[in-house]
Amino acid sequence: MDRKPFIIMVASQKGGVGKTTIAINLAAALIYRDYRVLLVDSDTASFSIMEHLGIKGTGNGFKEIVSGKAELADSLFVYQNIDLAIVLGSPSDETPEIKPEHLVRFYSQLAKQDYDFIIIDSQPGLFQNSIARYLNDVIIVTTPDSPSAASSAKLASYCEKLKVPHRLVINRTGYSKFELSKEEVEKLFGDVAYVMFPEDKIVPESLSKKKPVYLMDRGAPFAAAVDEIARVYTLKAGEAQSEEAKSKRKGFFEKVAWWTFKSGKDKEE
Ligand SMILES: Nc1ncnc2c1ncn2[C@@H]1O[C@H](COP(=O)(O)OP(=O)(O)O)[C@@H](O)[C@H]1O
Ligand SMILES: [Mg+2]
Repeated sequence: MDRKPFIIMVASQKGGVGKTTIAINLAAALIYRDYRVLLVDSDTASFSIMEHLGIKGTGNGFKEIVSGKAELADSLFVYQNIDLAIVLGSPSDETPEIKPEHLVRFYSQLAKQDYDFIIIDSQPGLFQNSIARYLNDVIIVTTPDSPSAASSAKLASYCEKLKVPHRLVINRTGYSKFELSKEEVEKLFGDVAYVMFPEDKIVPESLSKKKPVYLMDRGAPFAAAVDEIARVYTLKAGEAQSEEAKSKRKGFFEKVAWWTFKSGKDKEE
């Protein structure tokens, strides 16, 4: 099979800017469009996909797979109903050293998996340059304040240097009147493409309900921004498979009805 997964890393220089929220919701939005998606929690500093989705994982996770103690195929968790495969964070508290060659082995395994998209939720800071060649795109997440944006600009030039395609998400916009203007952002990042994600109260609500925003309310402003970035990747995937995508449209609309039914059912419970 010559179809390769499109690997997207969600990255940032600072923590707490919205990486995990964006990774999970982008995964849901791509599944909604009938793509097969694998989500990977590689944030060894603070694994949090389980926390966001209310998953009590006890099996092997990222660290065990990377260090060769467990096989990727035997360590996948499938998130209820939407068929989202996840490599969860590790249950162990110990922090074994992750050697560059182990990471490369892990990414070369990922590249052989039969998914349309693999979304990596990463730890803050620069990723190892040895994995750059496996990344099809990096989403650099920043908040609209100068310390976060200035450090994110470093991540953007790092991607530039390694020739890894990248784009910017400016998250939590429209919240403070002191936030950076579009002009200031453009001055910092040159012609890097960006999508603005609004501050939205549904995000903390989704965290407390342990459910992705995208499954709670696709009409929410945050979900609309997720759709905008999902469209970027749908187009990239669609360029190669436009005919196949057309034949999937029926499934897409069936899914709308199914999800409406599901969320209605949730309310009754
Ligand atoms: N657009 C947003 N609107 C409101 N709150 C947000 C938004 N994005 C993220 N948050 C909140 O910010 C916090 C950090 O988000 P998280 O995705 O865990 O960040 P990271 O993975 O970068 O550490 C969470 O409490 C989350 O609910
Ligand atoms: Mg996180």
